[in-house]
Amino acid sequence: MDNLPLFFRLRARPVLLVGAGEPAVAKARLLLAADADLRVVAPRGLDAFDEWSQEGAVDWARRAFEADDVTGMTLVIGATGDHDVDAAVAAAARAAAIPVNIVDRPELSSFIVPSIVDRSPVTIGISTNGTSPVLARRLREQIETLLPANLGRLARFLDSFRSAVKAKFDSFDARRRLWEEIVDGPIARDVLAGRETDAREAMLSRINRRRSDEPANGHVDIVGAGPGDPELLTIKALRALQDADLVVYDRLIGEGILDLVRRDAERIYVGKARSNHSVPQDQINALLVTHARAGRRVVRLKGGDPFIFGRGGEELERLRAAGISTAVIPGITAATGCAASAGLPLTHRDHASAVTFVTGHGVDGDPDVDWASLARPRHTLVVYMGVSRAGHLAAQLIGHGRARETPIAIIENGTRADERVIVGTLETVSSLVQTAKVGAPALIVIGEVAALADAARDLALNIAGPATAPSQLPAAASAL
Ligand SMILES: C[S@@+](CC[C@H](N)C(=O)[O-])C[C@H]1O[C@@H](n2cnc3c(N)ncnc32)[C@H](O)[C@@H]1O
Repeated sequence: MDNLPLFFRLRARPVLLVGAGEPAVAKARLLLAADADLRVVAPRGLDAFDEWSQEGAVDWARRAFEADDVTGMTLVIGATGDHDVDAAVAAAARAAAIPVNIVDRPELSSFIVPSIVDRSPVTIGISTNGTSPVLARRLREQIETLLPANLGRLARFLDSFRSAVKAKFDSFDARRRLWEEIVDGPIARDVLAGRETDAREAMLSRINRRRSDEPANGHVDIVGAGPGDPELLTIKALRALQDADLVVYDRLIGEGILDLVRRDAERIYVGKARSNHSVPQDQINALLVTHARAGRRVVRLKGGDPFIFGRGGEELERLRAAGISTAVIPGITAATGCAASAGLPLTHRDHASAVTFVTGHGVDGDPDVDWASLARPRHTLVVYMGVSRAGHLAAQLIGHGRARETPIAIIENGTRADERVIVGTLETVSSLVQTAKVGAPALIVIGEVAALADAARDLALNIAGPATAPSQLPAAASAL
């Protein structure tokens, strides 16, 4: 972020606008809308400035700019379109340490005037940091169409109840929950639809309800964060992250997802630390229960889908047993996310009529699976947590009849910026894992469909077999 967006209170503060031509009119309107005490310096100008001057809305000095004009100003805007005058305005403002904006000259400006969506008191500023004013305008148009026209009225309505709510609800969390209930519920809808009298009555009765009506217990959302790309979060997941008091997350949470958590929510990491130990599941369960009992809204954020190799089921059981209100918000599991990203359909009319998600690790090592049924042809296997045991898994499948040349794709960091897709065969999977130094997280897709991966299309990787020495494998060819 090159600039920090701030909203500047200008009411009755002196602001200097240098210029009274076309580029200055829009700025003057904005400054007048913000109730600034507007001083204009320009030898001549458009009729609009004459009118404002006659009405007493602006104080117009009809002469050329002088460096002293900036003295005592809160902000300075240069809008003459004349290179030398604008440069002189910028220099004088900077010398006096006054924030300055020169229209269309970001290099001379210390602040940017954004594109504005005005539903006062709700105001949205959009900036592309000077890179594309047209893009900023398009964004503004899109936001304009999304926002209800009465948004400003809603904000004023809420403001009018602030002190009453503060008097009745003494904790910050209780107030926030109440405001969320109001903003998301029928009271806000009534205001937006113009039924303000009904809304006012409903609001008074909600505020006057006894405090014991507030839920004593908190709530836990067990949320799937998907395989990494933040844009693969569901809208429900995003809302839960933005409503949370506390987020308990683990190692598989992709970069960028935690940025979407409400800014003042507490975050607790329970994944593997440097010591390589994660917090034991019992302790995580107890943590969720304790915080929910304290009345907090907790998000248990898990990679992929919480119910696919995610131990979400155990957490749900424990929370239910403790009588905690709980909901599960599904996520895109690694198999479907990685398959989509690699362009590899998990089922296909010509190649696979079934797909099985299997873990490469059982509780005591070998997974408890029926190898004979997994070895059937035209059947896609997606192996989670199987990279370190790839050779063993391949040997089991080959031993139970799956062809050695069955295509495989290893997908590391699927859906993330550093995704790698490595293709080969069942016979070569183990050597590929070593040669390409596959790291976590990664999964293995086994089956005819693996040959359809984007990587396979771009570059066919032919390795003779496990006897191929890792050094003989071209690194660039193995990892795409
Ligand atoms: C404990 S499991 C969790 C699975 C998760 N609940 C899901 O639905 O995707 C962890 C395994 O998921 C796979 N995995 C998760 N995210 C991945 C990603 N972005 N790319 C490749 N594999 C991933 C890896 O096999 C990893 O070892």
